[in-house]
Amino acid sequence: MEELKKLAAMEAVKRVKDGMVVGLGTGSTAKYAIIEIGKMVREGMEIVGIATSLESERIAKEAGIKLADINDYDAIDITIDGADEVDAHLNLIKGGGGALLREKMVASCTRKEVIIVDERKMVTRFSFPLPVEVVKFGWKRTADKLASLNFNPQLRHGFVTDNGNYILDCHYEAMEDYRKLHDEINSIVGVVENGLFIDMADEVIVGTNDGVKKIKAEGRKNE
Ligand code: 5RP
Repeated sequence: MEELKKLAAMEAVKRVKDGMVVGLGTGSTAKYAIIEIGKMVREGMEIVGIATSLESERIAKEAGIKLADINDYDAIDITIDGADEVDAHLNLIKGGGGALLREKMVASCTRKEVIIVDERKMVTRFSFPLPVEVVKFGWKRTADKLASLNFNPQLRHGFVTDNGNYILDCHYEAMEDYRKLHDEINSIVGVVENGLFIDMADEVIVGTNDGVKKIKAEGRKNE
């Protein structure tokens, strides 16, 4: 599986060009991209990275990538990030690594959001428990409200996000109208953000046993 993640990452970094501001995703797949971008930098490419987590920041620094704060740039040229599941419409579930808030903020400021996954993550229906970042204060009450949306929220024990919050992994039988659900979840007081990324991916690059598969989103925000 690691080879397939790497394959997707190696294809994605071809889109990174000199002078770009580059969002650096989080997770084991995005790590391959960060390491490769580091190599490109050492070979002379000049880019500025915007990390989506403290972990990505650490990996990027180690790789020799110059980093900036998201506040320093009006827009990010390209972001390369992973995902936990991708559906046929290129909607995503993210947050398995707990970095969904910063990942979504970076994605929302990005001209081209490139998602890299191995083929196991391409699904027809989501089943990965939906990560929801909630403030610590009253988290059990927030969980009750998520339960009223037919979720079974489980506290991610021993985990605190880079923003000092908790993650509730929300199990479900089936999710229907993602867009409506996304807004319903985010309207609960105490919820910071949820891991549904709807219409945010511009391209998904899939590492498969038959090579790399590139899927472009038609008519998305940046087309
Ligand atoms: C972190 C994420 C990751 O991108 C997602 O969990 C995929 O990680 P990996 O590449 O390790 O499977 O959303 O919040």
